[in-house]
Amino acid sequence: MLTKALFRKLPLATDNNTPLVSIEVNGSTHRVANDLSVAAALLTLGPAAIRRNPADNSARGPYCMMGVCFECLVEIDDVPNVQSCMVRVAEGMRITTVNATEACHD
Ligand code: FES
Repeated sequence: MLTKALFRKLPLATDNNTPLVSIEVNGSTHRVANDLSVAAALLTLGPAAIRRNPADNSARGPYCMMGVCFECLVEIDDVPNVQSCMVRVAEGMRITTVNATEACHD
């Protein structure tokens, strides 16, 4: 089972002066650049799968990164079904992956 992130921020896009924020993903605290969407942050932190399809239980993850596919739904600060690609990370944000299982972020 894949446990490493498939994505990373490109070196040219990395600015060492970019402020970091603390976010909580399924109870674990992470420091990420404050210029990322929640979906981008999740992709840099671990496996691409962040939820399960309720119909067939297949692993799903962010795809379009522009608010069209709805494959990136997560719970943010107790609000369910938020498109994570459309929300920028913020200090203290609590993110819960939907139907998280061993294949998803933990
Ligand atoms: S990744 Fe497609 S809507 Fe968010």
